[in-house]
Order: sequence, then structure tokens, then C-alpha cells
Amino acid sequence: MKAALLVESLTGNTWNAAELIGDKLQQEGWEITGLSKVGNPDLTSIQRADIVLVGTWTHGLFVVGQTPFALGNISNLPTMRGKKAACFLTFALNAGKSIDKLSTAVGQTGAEVIGGLEIKRNYLDQHTDLFVERLLGVVESV
Ligand SMILES: Cc1cc2nc3c(=O)[nH]c(=O)nc-3n(C[C@H](O)[C@H](O)[C@H](O)COP(=O)(O)O)c2cc1C
Repeated sequence: MKAALLVESLTGNTWNAAELIGDKLQQEGWEITGLSKVGNPDLTSIQRADIVLVGTWTHGLFVVGQTPFALGNISNLPTMRGKKAACFLTFALNAGKSIDKLSTAVGQTGAEVIGGLEIKRNYLDQHTDLFVERLLGVVESV
């Protein structure tokens, strides 16, 4: 499988999560076609990919009002009709319903969203393991 990674990150956690996911998928024999920013997506990497992995972080008041950062930019990404997609979202304490909002926004690109996972910022290694494990499971069963 070929995957492109698109990431929004302010302080680096989501970018680090994306790098971990990319490394772990490569260890499973996947090709990473590119890692780029949501605000400046690498179009060639998207075109070459079977699946696009979109990551951002949780913005809110920690207990209320949580939303994925750059939601508008994500829903306005270039069309991904015919691609599969999965999303991940880093957070500190409580992400609320952000993962559902992120999945909806990614779906607005036309991609078929096959899953999403919240990644707690102080468990990046463990939760990216889980993301990759679940992604491999879903892709194998499609
Ligand atoms: C302004 C601001 C608001 C945040 N709001 C929340 C929140 O409501 N809930 C939460 O769990 N984490 C919240 N966080 C924590 C971030 O989601 C978390 O640190 C995330 O990993 C940052 O990703 P990044 O390092 O890729 O920018 C907030 C961080 C900032 C800077």
C-alpha cells in the first residue's frame, strides 16, 4: 500500500506522530509517498497514494469546545475521490467529539474514511502503534 501523510501541527506532537506512523508503516512494507502540511499539501504524494492519512490536533477549552484545528482547511483539501483515508488527532486531556468532526471533514474531500484514532500527546509511541495496528487490520479486511 502507498500512503500520503497530511499534517497540521503547532508544537510538533502531531508531526512527530505522523513520522512515527510513517516509519511503522514502512516497516510493514508500505511506501510513504510524502509527508506534507495540510496548509501546503504535496499534491503528487496524494495522487500517488492509495490511502491518505490526515492528522491534526485538538483545540478547545480542554473540557468543552474541542474541535480539530484547521478543520476548514482539511475539508477544503484537494479532492480525494477514489482514495481511502484515515485520520488521527493528538490531544492533551479531552478531545471531546473532535475525531468525529475530523472524520466528517476528511469525508468532505470525497475520500472514503475507513477510521480514525485519538492519540494522547504523552503516549505518541503507544498510540501510533495502535493506529498502525488498526489500520493494517482494516485494510486487510477491505
Ligand atoms: C490553544 C490550545 C488549545 C488546546 N485545547 C485542547 C483541548 O481542548 N483539549 C485537549 O485535550 N488538548 C488541547 N490542547 C492540547 C493540544 O491538542 C496538544 O498539545 C496537541 O498534541 C498539540 O499538537 P501539536 O504539537 O501538533 O501542535 C490545546 C493546545 C493549545 C495550544
